[in-house]
Amino acid sequence: MELEQAKKRINELTKELHHYNYAYYMEDKSLIPDHEFDLLLKELIDLEAQFPNLKRTDSPTQRVGGTINKAFETVQHSTRMLSLGNTYSEEDLLEFDNRVAKGLEGQPYEYFCELKFDGVAISLQYENDVLVRAVTRGDGTKGDDITDNARTIRSIPLKINSNLDKLEVRGEVFMPKTVFEELNLEREEAGEDLYANARNTASGSLKMMDSAQVAKRKLDCYLYMLLAEGHDSHEEAIHNLEQWGFNVSPTYQKCGNIQEVLDYIHSWSEKRHELPVETDGIVIKVNNLDQQELLGFTAKTPKWAISYKYKSENACTKLNAVTYQVGRTGAITPVAELEPVLLAGTTVKRASLHNANEIERLDLHEGDFVFVEKGGEIIPKVTSVDLSQRSGKSKAITYITHCPACNTELVRKEGEASHYCPNTEACPPQIKGRIEHFIHRNAMNIDSLGERTISLLYEKGWLNKPSDLYKLTKEQLLELEGFKELSATNLLTGIERSKQAPFEAVLFGLGIRYVGKTVAEKLIEHFRNIDALMAAGFDELVGVQEIGDRIAESVIAYFSEQTNREEIERLKSAGLQFVTTANEKQSNILADKTFVVSGVFTNYSRDELKNTIKANGGKVVSSISKKLDYLIAGDKMGPSKKEKAEKLEVRIISEEDFESLLLK
Ligand code: IVH
Repeated sequence: MELEQAKKRINELTKELHHYNYAYYMEDKSLIPDHEFDLLLKELIDLEAQFPNLKRTDSPTQRVGGTINKAFETVQHSTRMLSLGNTYSEEDLLEFDNRVAKGLEGQPYEYFCELKFDGVAISLQYENDVLVRAVTRGDGTKGDDITDNARTIRSIPLKINSNLDKLEVRGEVFMPKTVFEELNLEREEAGEDLYANARNTASGSLKMMDSAQVAKRKLDCYLYMLLAEGHDSHEEAIHNLEQWGFNVSPTYQKCGNIQEVLDYIHSWSEKRHELPVETDGIVIKVNNLDQQELLGFTAKTPKWAISYKYKSENACTKLNAVTYQVGRTGAITPVAELEPVLLAGTTVKRASLHNANEIERLDLHEGDFVFVEKGGEIIPKVTSVDLSQRSGKSKAITYITHCPACNTELVRKEGEASHYCPNTEACPPQIKGRIEHFIHRNAMNIDSLGERTISLLYEKGWLNKPSDLYKLTKEQLLELEGFKELSATNLLTGIERSKQAPFEAVLFGLGIRYVGKTVAEKLIEHFRNIDALMAAGFDELVGVQEIGDRIAESVIAYFSEQTNREEIERLKSAGLQFVTTANEKQSNILADKTFVVSGVFTNYSRDELKNTIKANGGKVVSSISKKLDYLIAGDKMGPSKKEKAEKLEVRIISEEDFESLLLK
């Protein structure tokens, strides 16, 4: 494609994709099917790869990330990013109102109220309506330049329509509650430590070095402040932001006096739990900008704004017992079994006590009445004991010394808060937990096998480790309660099919501590087969992107266990995949040749065909130009493509012709 033509197409695609993105993320409207969107995006990615100089700063391809930052540059804020004074009571708020009234010397004034979003403050700079820089709050004076990461956040517009040369907006990046819950679910399944709350997770995500990883975190952003000329009140600023294409939470309200502010506070005290974002209070701002200026600032906070924090909700209930759970890694988690109590809209029956230190800190006694609290954390926690309700005779809770499942003496590794059951080989919940992990949909995906069947097979002595699955017979299954011909066949088919699961799934399924799905992918990208991975030393492991000391040590520890090595041998013999074939270089036979793939094929999917081209040294592009070597034409190829190729005298070949190219 000629430069001019490419430029035109890039501009068209950019505009079109922005339009779809805006409709999707800001208006909840899906204007085209996902796969069509992906095709357009792919076309743009390919064009940008072909013509890197034409890549626009506001390109929608930046949403998928891909840039790796070794370190973030520190940059100075144009004006300080301040924090807000906090109040916790209505009296404090009335005092704030008195100070405002006094400061304004009798002028009439209004407030503008917003929710206080619990995330990470960010500043976005636009020049000629294009996002040029995103900076974290940092210490308020200077922060980190995280532009590449911010560009992956779909609700941060890369292009706006303010018609101003320059402007800055500030707001809050957050992880939606549902995204946070899903992420934790995945981590739980991968045996990884759970993230404590959405706020810290959002903050950690924004500072990841690989922007493609940030893109996967599905962060969101609300804007609540505009630094630019041309408006007289905060209300106008907010309306401008909305009109220019920024994501503003629709929960704001203008209030004529402090009583209306209090009403606003009350109206959101429960309803806020239904919002997609965690909130911990309300921000009250004097609406008029001249009045804001008149009121001014203290050293750290504006005198024209304040936040009202909701009390974190708590309830008091009876501790019925402390029970102990054994995870698949042997980690013991103490759990408070509570008399059911209503808290922040849900009934709470159990709360995590984390570890022995926590029980000691609380000085927990049998039969105590305890306060439970639900803050930003999803799992409620026991914060304290109501000593006034403790009977003099009650005994302190003593932590168990032996595994509740297999009675092995527990160990506590140096520097770790948790106790572990070291009986890895024979402790039932550990054995069953490892198998449940192995068959999980993110791993071998044997969905015809459930927790109950695993238990039954375990009790029969037929299922102690993943490789035992591949030895199960129909006769054995038919002996199990509830199994019939059909269910037995289904299960065996599921097990057989799992032999085709890719190496990524197998490696994840092994359940190596800290090796979740993403880590498994990164390791495989580098090592490609299990033998290379097993032979890797610490230095080589930490040399892989995203692999830190903790993961490297865990991988080494896993493979140094004889039982694990033997199990891998058994799984290999069963026929599982321990090598990746993805993007493998097969030859260089197509070196320097460019291809366009179009239409539907008999022996390949389009992606397979493209991968084969790349694996043999060829290059896949999306548009037909004079310089193109081959157009591989399948069924249903668009007539315009054919016409164009003919006009430019590009060779049009069939699937079979392509295969014979590989044989040369
Ligand atoms: S206005 C000078 N509005 O709370 C006023 N802040 O404690 C600057 N925050 O750093 C902030 N929601 O990260 C404002 N609707 C909202 C907010 C909000 C959350 C955060 C923000 C700020 C912190 C101040």
